[in-house]
Amino acid sequence: MQNLVVLISGRGSNLLALTRECRIQRWPARVAAVLSNRADAAGLREARVAGIPVEVLDHRRWSERAQFDAALADAVAAHSPHWVLLAGFMRVLGPAFVDRFPSRVLNIHPSLLPSFAGLHTHRRALEAGVRAHGATVHMVGAQLDAGPIIAQAVVPVLEGDDEQRLADRVLAAEHRLYPTVVRWLVEGDMTLSESGPTWRPGAVPQPRCLWLGERPGAR
Ligand code: GRF
Repeated sequence: MQNLVVLISGRGSNLLALTRECRIQRWPARVAAVLSNRADAAGLREARVAGIPVEVLDHRRWSERAQFDAALADAVAAHSPHWVLLAGFMRVLGPAFVDRFPSRVLNIHPSLLPSFAGLHTHRRALEAGVRAHGATVHMVGAQLDAGPIIAQAVVPVLEGDDEQRLADRVLAAEHRLYPTVVRWLVEGDMTLSESGPTWRPGAVPQPRCLWLGERPGAR
């Protein structure tokens, strides 16, 4: 049984999607713990209801970023994680964290990286006038929203979209994408190394991209 440790800062809808698919699809894995840097993260309540151990490390208790990273790494390591899954965790993690779990930390980001790293991705996508938007699951390195891309989900940007409508469409895509990727990992269809993901031949069909909604240009 592989241990998944999930890090959140807020709502926790990706955490819930992972927990649900883990149970329904009977992955050889379990969400062993949920850690948050915010005591008021709504997702913690959901985790408690699901009987998952939760822990809060308020980053404001540490004056240095690297000290917080090291303390968080200790707390995560205590749950013997096979995979560390960032799911709306709103702190940038440096080497004091990332180097403790080489090729074991994943993140989901609400854009098609490398476009729109950082915050307010949906607003920026609308402002840029892109016709396709989406989400990316990537390995976590010491740089913001960087690290090898594993898979992406693409959604169309539609006439009349506002930030909320687009955000909702992307979030629904995230809830399919993240569990898909984690399932590949825990079932051994994909391995991760410093240079990126490798798939067991034939295990996961190409493309490693979920198209959700009408493909741009399709009739
Ligand atoms: C998601 O959009 C995720 O891509 C981003 O933060 C948001 C977290 O949402 N990193 P939730 O807490 O999982 O509902």
